[in-house]
Amino acid sequence: MITISEASFVTSAPDLKAAPNWALPEVVLIGRSNVGKSTFINALCNHKNLARTSNTPGKTRLMNFYQIALNKGKNAPQKISLAFVDLPGYGYAKVSKTEQAEWQKNLTTYLKHRTEIALCVQLIDARHGPQDSDIAMFDWLAQQELPQLVIMTKTDKLKKNEIANQRTLTANSLQVDETHVIPFSGVKTDNREGLWHLILEGIAG
Ligand code: GTP
Ligand code: MG
Repeated sequence: MITISEASFVTSAPDLKAAPNWALPEVVLIGRSNVGKSTFINALCNHKNLARTSNTPGKTRLMNFYQIALNKGKNAPQKISLAFVDLPGYGYAKVSKTEQAEWQKNLTTYLKHRTEIALCVQLIDARHGPQDSDIAMFDWLAQQELPQLVIMTKTDKLKKNEIANQRTLTANSLQVDETHVIPFSGVKTDNREGLWHLILEGIAG
């Protein structure tokens, strides 16, 4: 059993230089704009508005750092501290090319050089499957040897058989085993506990 004992916003940072000076393992949310990264953080933390979500893509424009403390297990629970990092989404057409290039540069630098990163959680919209930008990001993260977890999200918008089909498609596009693609919904959060276990396994290496 996982219980969250603390979930709080710490700071926003435009780039690596401004990132917090701490030794927490960072779980980084990566995905296209509007895919549900901020919603994912809220769902896992059992918190409606810890991370700001919006219908308008491009809501998250800075890297946002959240500090989380949780207890794992019922009797003599283990206390675990970690951080969620909500990144600006990629593939948002409405910002200028210059601004997009600037984000890209800052994100790449952060992902390449931030030693605190323990796990990259890449979110892919279950309805659309991986887009070219998702596949490119997945391959790039693998190349950097960053530990990855692939989530297909918004599954509440699909029927059961459609979820199964999209899971196969997603796994094939990314050339991974289907078991590496985890269905999730930020609305029906029944898989929340299971996901926490995957995240904790992920950050433990
Ligand atoms: P940016 O910050 O723009 O990159 O977006 P984001 O990836 O943080 O997306 P956000 O969490 O703000 O969600 C975008 C929209 O999708 C919001 O209207 C959410 O309510 C909705 N949404 C997110 N996850 C889910 C989900 O699992 N199911 C459904 N039905 N809607 C979702
Ligand atoms: Mg967001």
